Amino acid sequence: MNILTKDLSGHVGETITIKGWLYNKRSSGPISFLELRDGYGFVQGVVVQKDASEAVWQAAESVTQESSVEATGVVTKHPKKENVFELQIKDLKILQLAHDYPIANKEHGPDFLMDNRHLWLRSSKQWAIMRVRDAIITAINEYLHQENFIRVDSPIFTPNACEGTTTLFPVPYFDLGTAYLSQSGQLYSEAAIMSVGRCYDFGPVFRAEKSKTKRHLTEFWMMDAEAAFVEHDENLKIQEGLVRYIVRYCLERCKEELIILERNTERLKKADAPFTRYTYDEAIKKLNAMGSDIKYGDDLGNDDEGLLTKDSEVPVFIEKWPKTIKPFYMKRDVNNPDLVCNDDLIATDGGGELIGGSQREDDAELLFERIKVEGLNVEDYQWYLDLRKYGSVPHSGFGIGLERTVRWICGVEHVRETIAFPRTIGRLKP
Ligand code: 4AD
Ligand code: MG
Repeated sequence: MNILTKDLSGHVGETITIKGWLYNKRSSGPISFLELRDGYGFVQGVVVQKDASEAVWQAAESVTQESSVEATGVVTKHPKKENVFELQIKDLKILQLAHDYPIANKEHGPDFLMDNRHLWLRSSKQWAIMRVRDAIITAINEYLHQENFIRVDSPIFTPNACEGTTTLFPVPYFDLGTAYLSQSGQLYSEAAIMSVGRCYDFGPVFRAEKSKTKRHLTEFWMMDAEAAFVEHDENLKIQEGLVRYIVRYCLERCKEELIILERNTERLKKADAPFTRYTYDEAIKKLNAMGSDIKYGDDLGNDDEGLLTKDSEVPVFIEKWPKTIKPFYMKRDVNNPDLVCNDDLIATDGGGELIGGSQREDDAELLFERIKVEGLNVEDYQWYLDLRKYGSVPHSGFGIGLERTVRWICGVEHVRETIAFPRTIGRLKP
Protein backbone atom coordinates (compact mmCIF):
# COMPACT_ATOMS: atom_id res chain seq x y z
CA MET A 1 0.00 0.00 0.00
CA ASN A 2 1.37 3.43 -0.93
CA ILE A 3 1.35 5.86 1.99
CA LEU A 4 2.45 9.47 2.25
CA THR A 5 4.99 10.33 4.94
CA LYS A 6 2.53 12.76 6.50
CA ASP A 7 0.07 9.91 7.13
CA LEU A 8 2.48 7.45 8.78
CA SER A 9 1.02 7.82 12.28
CA GLY A 10 -2.08 5.90 11.21
CA HIS A 11 -0.08 2.91 9.91
CA VAL A 12 2.21 1.85 12.76
CA GLY A 13 2.91 -1.90 12.51
CA GLU A 14 1.74 -2.12 8.89
CA THR A 15 3.84 -2.85 5.82
CA ILE A 16 3.62 0.11 3.47
CA THR A 17 5.44 1.67 0.51
CA ILE A 18 6.88 5.19 0.30
CA LYS A 19 7.58 6.60 -3.17
CA GLY A 20 10.11 9.40 -3.13
CA TRP A 21 13.74 10.37 -3.15
CA LEU A 22 16.78 9.66 -1.03
CA TYR A 23 17.43 12.86 0.88
CA ASN A 24 20.40 11.77 2.90
CA LYS A 25 22.23 8.61 3.93
CA ARG A 26 24.23 7.51 6.95
CA SER A 27 25.74 4.12 7.54
CA SER A 28 26.95 2.69 10.76
CA GLY A 29 28.48 -0.69 9.98
CA PRO A 30 25.74 -3.22 9.38
CA ILE A 31 22.92 -0.63 9.57
CA SER A 32 22.07 1.90 6.90
CA PHE A 33 19.90 4.94 7.68
CA LEU A 34 18.18 6.29 4.60
CA GLU A 35 16.43 9.60 5.01
CA LEU A 36 13.62 9.63 2.50
CA ARG A 37 11.43 12.48 1.34
CA ASP A 38 8.26 12.12 -0.67
CA GLY A 39 7.21 15.75 -1.11
CA TYR A 40 4.85 15.65 1.86
CA GLY A 41 7.48 15.17 4.53
CA PHE A 42 10.50 13.18 5.58
CA VAL A 43 11.00 9.77 7.13
CA GLN A 44 14.02 7.83 8.23
CA GLY A 45 14.29 4.37 6.68
CA VAL A 46 16.39 1.74 8.39
CA VAL A 47 18.04 -1.18 6.61
CA VAL A 48 19.65 -3.82 8.82
CA GLN A 49 22.09 -6.01 6.91
CA LYS A 50 21.37 -9.22 8.75
CA ASP A 51 17.61 -8.86 8.24
CA ALA A 52 17.78 -7.75 4.61
CA SER A 53 18.26 -9.77 1.43
CA GLU A 54 21.59 -9.32 -0.31
CA ALA A 55 19.86 -7.34 -3.10
CA VAL A 56 18.21 -4.91 -0.70
CA TRP A 57 21.42 -4.39 1.24
CA GLN A 58 23.27 -3.74 -2.03
CA ALA A 59 20.61 -1.25 -3.10
CA ALA A 60 20.94 0.56 0.24
CA GLU A 61 24.72 0.65 -0.12
CA SER A 62 24.70 1.96 -3.67
CA VAL A 63 21.75 4.38 -3.63
CA THR A 64 22.92 7.97 -4.11
CA GLN A 65 21.57 11.30 -2.87
CA GLU A 66 18.39 12.30 -4.74
CA SER A 67 17.92 8.93 -6.44
CA SER A 68 14.23 8.20 -6.89
CA VAL A 69 13.16 5.15 -4.90
CA GLU A 70 10.32 2.99 -3.68
CA ALA A 71 10.87 1.75 -0.17
CA THR A 72 8.64 -0.90 1.41
CA GLY A 73 8.73 -1.81 5.05
CA VAL A 74 7.05 -1.76 8.44
CA VAL A 75 6.20 1.56 10.10
CA THR A 76 7.53 1.85 13.65
CA LYS A 77 7.51 4.57 16.28
CA HIS A 78 10.81 6.38 16.76
CA PRO A 79 12.45 4.93 19.88
CA LYS A 80 12.91 8.37 21.45
CA LYS A 81 10.98 11.10 19.61
CA GLU A 82 7.25 11.70 20.04
CA ASN A 83 5.23 11.67 16.82
CA VAL A 84 8.18 10.61 14.71
CA PHE A 85 8.03 7.38 12.74
CA GLU A 86 10.53 5.19 10.98
CA LEU A 87 10.36 2.70 8.17
CA GLN A 88 12.05 -0.67 8.73
CA ILE A 89 12.90 -1.26 5.09
CA LYS A 90 12.37 -4.75 3.68
CA ASP A 91 12.48 -3.87 0.02
CA LEU A 92 14.19 -0.99 -1.78
CA LYS A 93 13.67 -0.34 -5.46
CA ILE A 94 15.85 2.29 -7.14
CA LEU A 95 13.79 3.92 -9.90
CA GLN A 96 16.66 6.07 -11.14
CA LEU A 97 20.13 6.19 -9.69
CA ALA A 98 21.00 9.88 -9.42
CA HIS A 99 24.28 11.16 -10.85
CA ASP A 100 26.60 13.07 -8.54
CA TYR A 101 24.13 15.49 -6.98
CA PRO A 102 25.65 18.97 -7.02
CA ILE A 103 24.14 20.17 -3.75
CA ALA A 104 25.90 18.31 -0.98
CA ASN A 105 25.25 18.61 2.71
CA LYS A 106 27.80 21.36 3.11
CA GLU A 107 27.88 25.13 2.79
CA HIS A 108 27.38 26.47 -0.72
CA GLY A 109 27.51 30.09 -1.82
CA PRO A 110 24.23 31.84 -2.71
CA ASP A 111 25.11 32.19 -6.40
CA PHE A 112 25.78 28.50 -6.71
CA LEU A 113 22.51 27.70 -4.98
CA MET A 114 20.57 30.15 -7.13
CA ASP A 115 22.13 28.70 -10.31
CA ASN A 116 20.86 25.35 -9.08
CA ARG A 117 17.53 26.68 -7.89
CA HIS A 118 15.71 23.89 -9.79
CA LEU A 119 17.47 21.40 -7.48
CA TRP A 120 17.87 23.55 -4.40
CA LEU A 121 14.07 23.63 -4.08
CA ARG A 122 14.29 20.04 -2.81
CA SER A 123 16.21 21.01 0.33
CA SER A 124 14.19 20.86 3.53
CA LYS A 125 14.39 24.59 4.19
CA GLN A 126 13.20 25.47 0.69
CA TRP A 127 10.52 22.81 0.95
CA ALA A 128 9.32 24.41 4.17
CA ILE A 129 9.27 27.90 2.63
CA MET A 130 7.19 26.73 -0.36
CA ARG A 131 4.68 25.20 2.01
CA VAL A 132 4.43 28.30 4.19
CA ARG A 133 3.95 30.36 1.03
CA ASP A 134 1.05 28.14 0.05
CA ALA A 135 -0.44 28.43 3.55
CA ILE A 136 -0.24 32.24 3.35
CA ILE A 137 -2.01 32.24 -0.03
CA THR A 138 -4.74 30.00 1.40
CA ALA A 139 -5.08 32.19 4.50
CA ILE A 140 -5.44 35.32 2.36
CA ASN A 141 -8.13 33.74 0.20
CA GLU A 142 -10.02 32.48 3.27
CA TYR A 143 -9.90 35.73 5.20
CA LEU A 144 -11.01 37.85 2.27
CA HIS A 145 -13.97 35.63 1.49
CA GLN A 146 -15.01 35.78 5.14
CA GLU A 147 -14.92 39.57 4.76
CA ASN A 148 -17.11 39.42 1.61
CA PHE A 149 -14.39 40.05 -0.96
CA ILE A 150 -14.51 38.07 -4.18
CA ARG A 151 -11.63 37.51 -6.54
CA VAL A 152 -11.60 39.51 -9.77
CA ASP A 153 -8.24 39.30 -11.49
CA SER A 154 -6.55 42.25 -13.16
CA PRO A 155 -4.67 42.26 -16.46
CA ILE A 156 -0.88 42.03 -16.69
CA PHE A 157 -0.51 43.98 -19.95
CA THR A 158 -1.50 47.54 -19.17
CA PRO A 159 -1.42 50.81 -21.10
CA ASN A 160 -0.47 52.99 -18.11
CA ALA A 161 1.41 53.17 -14.82
CA CYS A 162 -0.11 52.50 -11.40
CA GLU A 163 2.91 53.15 -9.20
CA GLY A 164 4.96 55.78 -11.01
CA THR A 165 6.60 55.67 -14.40
CA THR A 166 10.19 54.93 -13.33
CA THR A 167 9.76 51.22 -12.66
CA LEU A 168 7.76 50.18 -15.73
CA PHE A 169 8.70 47.24 -17.92
CA PRO A 170 7.81 48.03 -21.56
CA VAL A 171 6.70 45.31 -23.96
CA PRO A 172 6.20 45.84 -27.72
CA TYR A 173 2.50 45.37 -28.37
CA PHE A 174 1.55 44.80 -32.02
CA ASP A 175 0.19 47.92 -33.74
CA LEU A 176 -0.79 49.51 -30.45
CA GLY A 177 2.69 50.57 -29.51
CA THR A 178 4.01 49.84 -26.04
CA ALA A 179 2.30 47.91 -23.28
CA TYR A 180 3.64 47.82 -19.72
CA LEU A 181 3.71 44.90 -17.33
CA SER A 182 1.40 45.67 -14.43
CA GLN A 183 2.93 47.12 -11.25
CA SER A 184 -0.28 46.53 -9.29
CA GLY A 185 -3.83 45.62 -10.29
CA GLN A 186 -5.28 48.30 -8.04
CA LEU A 187 -6.75 50.62 -10.64
CA TYR A 188 -8.67 47.72 -12.19
CA SER A 189 -9.85 46.55 -8.77
CA GLU A 190 -11.23 50.05 -8.25
CA ALA A 191 -13.35 49.61 -11.37
CA ALA A 192 -14.50 46.14 -10.33
CA ILE A 193 -15.73 47.14 -6.85
CA MET A 194 -18.24 49.47 -8.44
CA SER A 195 -19.76 46.24 -9.73
CA VAL A 196 -19.17 43.74 -6.90
CA GLY A 197 -18.60 45.87 -3.79
CA ARG A 198 -15.40 44.27 -2.53
CA CYS A 199 -12.84 42.42 -4.56
CA TYR A 200 -9.22 41.37 -4.76
CA ASP A 201 -6.75 40.24 -7.34
CA PHE A 202 -3.77 38.02 -6.70
CA GLY A 203 -1.02 37.53 -9.20
CA PRO A 204 2.41 38.49 -10.45
CA VAL A 205 3.33 42.15 -10.78
CA PHE A 206 6.47 43.71 -12.15
CA ARG A 207 8.78 46.51 -11.13
CA ALA A 208 11.91 47.50 -12.97
CA GLU A 209 13.45 48.29 -9.59
CA LYS A 210 17.14 49.01 -9.84
CA SER A 211 17.44 48.14 -6.15
CA LYS A 212 19.64 45.20 -5.25
CA THR A 213 18.28 44.63 -1.77
CA LYS A 214 17.14 41.61 0.19
CA ARG A 215 13.54 42.78 -0.27
CA HIS A 216 13.22 43.58 -3.95
CA LEU A 217 12.27 41.33 -6.82
CA THR A 218 11.48 42.47 -10.35
CA GLU A 219 8.60 39.98 -10.52
CA PHE A 220 6.65 39.40 -7.33
CA TRP A 221 3.17 38.45 -6.26
CA MET A 222 0.75 40.99 -4.92
CA MET A 223 -2.73 40.72 -3.56
CA ASP A 224 -4.63 43.98 -4.11
CA ALA A 225 -7.82 44.26 -2.07
CA GLU A 226 -10.33 47.03 -2.73
CA ALA A 227 -13.62 47.90 -1.03
CA ALA A 228 -16.43 50.36 -1.75
CA PHE A 229 -17.75 52.48 1.14
CA VAL A 230 -14.65 51.74 3.22
CA GLU A 231 -12.69 54.71 4.54
CA HIS A 232 -9.21 55.04 5.99
CA ASP A 233 -9.79 53.65 9.51
CA GLU A 234 -11.74 50.64 8.32
CA ASN A 235 -9.11 50.01 5.66
CA LEU A 236 -6.51 49.65 8.42
CA LYS A 237 -8.80 47.30 10.35
CA ILE A 238 -9.13 45.01 7.35
CA GLN A 239 -5.36 44.96 6.87
CA GLU A 240 -4.71 44.19 10.53
CA GLY A 241 -7.34 41.46 10.46
CA LEU A 242 -5.72 39.92 7.40
CA VAL A 243 -2.16 39.92 8.75
CA ARG A 244 -3.24 38.51 12.12
CA TYR A 245 -5.23 35.83 10.32
CA ILE A 246 -2.15 34.87 8.28
CA VAL A 247 -0.03 34.63 11.43
CA ARG A 248 -2.59 32.45 13.24
CA TYR A 249 -3.11 30.25 10.20
CA CYS A 250 0.61 29.60 9.73
CA LEU A 251 1.24 28.96 13.43
CA GLU A 252 -1.51 26.38 13.36
CA ARG A 253 -0.86 24.71 9.99
CA CYS A 254 2.88 25.03 9.49
CA LYS A 255 4.32 23.81 12.79
CA GLU A 256 6.79 21.39 11.22
CA GLU A 257 7.84 23.91 8.58
CA LEU A 258 8.49 26.65 11.14
CA ILE A 259 10.62 24.23 13.20
CA ILE A 260 12.70 23.41 10.10
CA LEU A 261 13.08 27.14 9.47
CA GLU A 262 14.04 27.72 13.13
CA ARG A 263 11.53 30.56 13.26
CA ASN A 264 10.93 32.04 16.68
CA THR A 265 7.22 31.25 16.91
CA GLU A 266 6.85 32.98 20.29
CA ARG A 267 7.60 36.23 18.49
CA LEU A 268 5.06 35.41 15.81
CA LYS A 269 2.40 34.59 18.41
CA LYS A 270 2.92 37.98 20.00
CA ALA A 271 2.33 39.68 16.64
CA ASP A 272 -1.28 38.51 16.80
CA ALA A 273 -2.37 41.48 18.96
CA PRO A 274 -3.57 45.04 18.14
CA PHE A 275 -1.07 46.78 15.87
CA THR A 276 0.66 50.06 16.67
CA ARG A 277 -0.26 53.21 14.70
CA TYR A 278 2.05 56.16 14.09
CA THR A 279 1.45 59.04 11.79
CA TYR A 280 4.27 59.72 9.35
CA ASP A 281 5.03 62.85 11.35
CA GLU A 282 5.32 60.86 14.61
CA ALA A 283 7.44 58.23 12.90
CA ILE A 284 9.94 60.82 11.66
CA LYS A 285 10.16 62.39 15.14
CA LYS A 286 10.67 59.00 16.78
CA LEU A 287 13.33 58.08 14.26
CA ASN A 288 15.18 61.34 14.79
CA ALA A 289 15.03 60.80 18.53
CA MET A 290 16.54 57.34 17.99
CA GLY A 291 19.45 58.76 16.03
CA SER A 292 18.28 58.50 12.41
CA ASP A 293 19.03 61.51 10.23
CA ILE A 294 15.84 61.05 8.15
CA LYS A 295 14.16 64.34 7.24
CA TYR A 296 10.48 65.18 6.95
CA GLY A 297 9.56 64.44 3.34
CA ASP A 298 11.91 61.46 2.96
CA ASP A 299 10.69 57.96 2.27
CA LEU A 300 11.56 55.43 4.98
CA GLY A 301 14.48 53.17 4.13
CA ASN A 302 15.16 49.68 5.32
CA ASP A 303 17.19 50.90 8.28
CA ASP A 304 14.50 53.33 9.37
CA GLU A 305 11.87 50.62 9.24
CA GLY A 306 14.09 48.34 11.30
CA LEU A 307 14.81 51.04 13.84
CA LEU A 308 11.18 52.03 14.23
CA THR A 309 10.03 48.46 14.89
CA LYS A 310 13.03 47.08 16.75
CA ASP A 311 11.33 46.96 20.15
CA SER A 312 7.85 46.27 18.83
CA GLU A 313 6.10 42.95 19.29
CA VAL A 314 3.40 43.86 16.78
CA PRO A 315 3.54 45.29 13.24
CA VAL A 316 3.40 49.06 12.97
CA PHE A 317 1.20 51.19 10.71
CA ILE A 318 2.65 54.45 9.47
CA GLU A 319 -0.23 56.55 8.24
CA LYS A 320 -0.87 59.94 6.64
CA TRP A 321 2.22 60.56 4.55
CA PRO A 322 3.03 63.76 2.63
CA LYS A 323 1.30 63.54 -0.73
CA THR A 324 4.51 64.51 -2.52
CA ILE A 325 6.10 61.10 -1.88
CA LYS A 326 3.01 58.99 -2.58
CA PRO A 327 1.13 58.06 -5.78
CA PHE A 328 -1.49 60.24 -7.45
CA TYR A 329 -4.54 58.15 -6.53
CA MET A 330 -4.39 58.60 -2.75
CA LYS A 331 -7.13 60.69 -1.15
CA ARG A 332 -6.09 63.94 0.46
CA ASP A 333 -6.58 64.25 4.20
CA VAL A 334 -9.49 66.66 4.71
CA ASN A 335 -7.75 68.08 7.80
CA ASN A 336 -4.45 68.71 6.00
CA PRO A 337 -4.47 68.66 2.19
CA ASP A 338 -0.69 68.17 2.11
CA LEU A 339 -1.18 64.68 3.56
CA VAL A 340 -2.91 61.62 2.17
CA CYS A 341 -5.07 59.00 3.93
CA ASN A 342 -2.68 56.13 3.43
CA ASP A 343 -0.63 53.61 5.35
CA ASP A 344 2.42 51.43 5.12
CA LEU A 345 2.45 48.40 7.39
CA ILE A 346 5.89 47.50 8.77
CA ALA A 347 6.44 44.00 10.14
CA THR A 348 8.36 43.01 13.27
CA ASP A 349 11.72 41.21 13.38
CA GLY A 350 13.17 43.22 10.48
CA GLY A 351 10.40 42.09 8.12
CA GLY A 352 10.04 45.59 6.66
CA GLU A 353 7.08 46.89 4.64
CA LEU A 354 4.46 44.24 3.94
CA ILE A 355 1.55 46.42 2.84
CA GLY A 356 0.94 49.72 1.09
CA GLY A 357 -2.65 50.98 1.21
CA SER A 358 -4.83 54.06 1.06
CA GLN A 359 -8.22 55.57 0.70
CA ARG A 360 -8.60 56.62 -2.94
CA GLU A 361 -9.26 60.08 -4.27
CA ASP A 362 -12.94 59.96 -5.21
CA ASP A 363 -13.29 63.53 -6.49
CA ALA A 364 -12.97 63.65 -10.28
CA GLU A 365 -11.48 67.15 -10.40
CA LEU A 366 -8.90 66.67 -7.67
CA LEU A 367 -7.86 63.39 -9.20
CA PHE A 368 -7.54 65.00 -12.62
CA GLU A 369 -5.29 67.66 -11.07
CA ARG A 370 -3.07 65.05 -9.41
CA ILE A 371 -2.67 63.14 -12.67
CA LYS A 372 -1.62 66.33 -14.44
CA VAL A 373 0.75 67.44 -11.67
CA GLU A 374 2.43 64.03 -11.73
CA GLY A 375 3.05 64.51 -15.45
CA LEU A 376 0.99 61.47 -16.41
CA ASN A 377 -0.85 61.25 -19.71
CA VAL A 378 -4.47 62.13 -18.89
CA GLU A 379 -5.72 60.29 -21.95
CA ASP A 380 -4.48 56.97 -20.48
CA TYR A 381 -6.44 57.53 -17.28
CA GLN A 382 -9.74 58.57 -18.83
CA TRP A 383 -11.40 55.29 -17.95
CA TYR A 384 -10.13 55.63 -14.37
CA LEU A 385 -11.54 59.15 -14.15
CA ASP A 386 -14.88 57.77 -15.38
CA LEU A 387 -15.16 55.85 -12.09
CA ARG A 388 -15.41 59.26 -10.37
CA LYS A 389 -18.07 60.46 -12.80
CA TYR A 390 -20.51 57.60 -12.61
CA GLY A 391 -21.51 56.95 -9.03
CA SER A 392 -18.30 57.81 -7.22
CA VAL A 393 -18.15 56.52 -3.65
CA PRO A 394 -15.57 56.62 -0.87
CA HIS A 395 -13.39 53.56 -1.24
CA SER A 396 -10.11 52.17 -0.06
CA GLY A 397 -7.73 49.32 -0.62
CA PHE A 398 -4.28 47.98 -0.13
CA GLY A 399 -1.70 45.66 -1.62
CA ILE A 400 0.24 43.04 0.31
CA GLY A 401 3.47 41.68 -1.12
CA LEU A 402 3.40 37.89 -0.93
CA GLU A 403 7.17 37.37 -0.88
CA ARG A 404 7.67 40.01 1.81
CA THR A 405 5.06 38.25 3.92
CA VAL A 406 6.63 34.82 3.35
CA ARG A 407 10.00 36.30 4.27
CA TRP A 408 8.64 37.64 7.54
CA ILE A 409 6.67 34.55 8.57
CA CYS A 410 9.55 32.21 7.68
CA GLY A 411 12.21 34.52 9.11
CA VAL A 412 14.41 34.12 6.03
CA GLU A 413 16.78 36.88 5.21
CA HIS A 414 16.50 37.20 1.46
CA VAL A 415 13.31 37.50 -0.54
CA ARG A 416 14.86 35.40 -3.34
CA GLU A 417 14.17 32.28 -1.24
CA THR A 418 10.46 33.03 -0.91
CA ILE A 419 9.43 32.34 -4.51
CA ALA A 420 10.26 29.20 -6.45
CA PHE A 421 12.04 30.93 -9.32
CA PRO A 422 13.01 34.47 -8.30
CA ARG A 423 13.58 37.25 -10.80
CA THR A 424 15.92 40.00 -9.74
CA ILE A 425 17.89 42.63 -11.56
CA GLY A 426 20.75 40.16 -12.00
CA ARG A 427 18.90 36.88 -12.36
CA LEU A 428 16.66 35.48 -15.07
CA LYS A 429 17.74 31.82 -14.83
CA PRO A 430 16.78 29.05 -14.26
O1 4AD B 1 3.44 49.80 -1.66
P1 4AD B 1 3.16 49.31 -3.06
O2 4AD B 1 3.97 49.87 -4.15
O3 4AD B 1 1.62 49.57 -3.27
C1 4AD B 1 0.94 49.38 -4.44
O4 4AD B 1 1.39 48.92 -5.45
C2 4AD B 1 -0.53 49.70 -4.33
N1 4AD B 1 -1.07 49.94 -5.68
C3 4AD B 1 -1.25 48.56 -3.67
C4 4AD B 1 -2.72 48.80 -3.48
O5 4AD B 1 -3.08 49.76 -2.82
N2 4AD B 1 -3.57 47.94 -4.03
O6 4AD B 1 3.31 47.72 -3.08
C5 4AD B 1 2.57 46.91 -2.21
C6 4AD B 1 3.46 45.89 -1.56
C7 4AD B 1 4.59 46.46 -0.71
O7 4AD B 1 4.14 46.84 0.55
C8 4AD B 1 5.56 45.30 -0.67
O8 4AD B 1 5.12 44.32 0.26
C9 4AD B 1 5.41 44.71 -2.05
O9 4AD B 1 4.15 45.11 -2.55
N3 4AD B 1 6.47 45.14 -2.96
C10 4AD B 1 7.50 44.36 -3.36
N4 4AD B 1 7.83 43.10 -3.08
C11 4AD B 1 8.94 42.59 -3.66
N5 4AD B 1 9.70 43.26 -4.53
C12 4AD B 1 9.41 44.54 -4.87
N6 4AD B 1 10.16 45.17 -5.75
C13 4AD B 1 8.27 45.14 -4.27
N7 4AD B 1 7.68 46.36 -4.38
C14 4AD B 1 6.60 46.32 -3.57
MG1 MG C 1 4.92 50.88 -0.66
